[in-house]
Amino acid sequence: MNICIAYKCQVPDADEGQLHARTGLPLVSLLEISKIQSDGYLYFSDGILKLQLLSLPGMTPLFVSFEGLERRAKDSLFQQSLIKAVGIGKGKRPSILDGTGGLGSDGFLMASTGCKVSLFERDKVIYELLKDGLRRYAAKDSNGKEVSKRIQIENRDFLESKTLTNRYEVVYLDPMFPMSKKRSRSKRPMLYLQEFLQAENNGDQMLSVAKRIATKRIVVKRGIRSPTLTNHDVDMVYRGNSNRFDVYLI
Ligand SMILES: C[S@@+](CC[C@H](N)C(=O)[O-])C[C@H]1O[C@@H](n2cnc3c(N)ncnc32)[C@H](O)[C@@H]1O
Repeated sequence: MNICIAYKCQVPDADEGQLHARTGLPLVSLLEISKIQSDGYLYFSDGILKLQLLSLPGMTPLFVSFEGLERRAKDSLFQQSLIKAVGIGKGKRPSILDGTGGLGSDGFLMASTGCKVSLFERDKVIYELLKDGLRRYAAKDSNGKEVSKRIQIENRDFLESKTLTNRYEVVYLDPMFPMSKKRSRSKRPMLYLQEFLQAENNGDQMLSVAKRIATKRIVVKRGIRSPTLTNHDVDMVYRGNSNRFDVYLI
């Protein structure tokens, strides 16, 4: 996809310039956006980095807000299938590598239990949205600062983890699965990701990389009726309302 950075004033400001320097994405005046060939644009609004896709014109832009997840992170957090699948429980706070970080929702919930979570996100646009959300959450209050300290994010490809020397007790994966026919029922962030990113078909490769890194288990999030990631036998399954967590024990 062709994404650019839209600036609002006559010349880009410092944040817009730094975003351009980090990502290499072209800077375009907001007034000129309709004149260039672009699939969407990143822009700052009220200090928040947002993504607007031109294929979703009526939809509010995408940005990362962990505030919206705070309730889920408080109410019966330990009863959630994600948390159980990862093996978090009484006295158990495994180290976690989330190899497909996305917008960080799952990583945030896992970190809210007290676990340290490293997230890899290979797409630079999604990574920038995630980084911005985390920066704002860290600045919010002392709890925001505490939770954010447990989350480390890197703009890198999980499949290129050959040089990784760190091992993690748990590797968590949530690759994109093919778009369902009930697309319109997807929640807004997922609709954006489906529109923006390609579905993956590299399950075997992901699982084999995960096996080199995980010391206790690999957890793969799937749609409730999606096939397993690979033909390998799953050891345990935890079901939520619309998702399933397949657990492969090491
Ligand atoms: C379905 S989303 C993950 C959503 C995430 N669990 C959340 O809670 O927001 C999948 C994400 O994984 C990223 N991804 C896919 N393959 C990857 C890889 N090999 N390395 C790093 N990130 C990857 C995609 O760019 C996408 O942002």
